[in-house]
Amino acid sequence: MERTFVMVKPDGIDRRLIGEIIGRFERRGLRIVGLKLLRPDRSLAERHYAVHRDKPFFGELVEFITGGAVVALAIEGPQAITLVRQMMGALKPEQAAPGTIRGDYTTDIQANLVHGSDGPETARAELDLWFRPGELLD
Ligand code: TYD
Ligand code: MG
Repeated sequence: MERTFVMVKPDGIDRRLIGEIIGRFERRGLRIVGLKLLRPDRSLAERHYAVHRDKPFFGELVEFITGGAVVALAIEGPQAITLVRQMMGALKPEQAAPGTIRGDYTTDIQANLVHGSDGPETARAELDLWFRPGELLD
């Protein structure tokens, strides 16, 4: 059993796609074990995207993610990290396959609706960053 961190980004909230996105994970059989709606501050956004600190898109990325509310999710299931990444779709719009969240709902590389941890270490670090232990189900 694995746990991963997922975020519905501000464009997902603006476009009223929270239910659609969470519903896809639930219908797949993954279990929601943590969930909150919040507007991340700059510090949280910068820590979340610290790995991209030196990239040219970092400033814009932080602006985007702090520009509105997000839904933070902890999602559990067998191979949850990999399954969520597959269901999200690729970053590059031309590589995001139909049937994936990005492939079905966006053409934009930045406003791409959803974040999912990209590996076990990242998942642990991101869950620790976004949730207190008592906020997650056992
Ligand atoms: P990345 O971790 O590479 O993608 P993913 O979200 O699929 O894990 O990048 C993090 C976010 O940074 C990405 O969701 C959108 C933004 N981003 C850009 O806006 N432009 C870019 O060229 C890249 C690589 C990322
Ligand atoms: Mg990433």
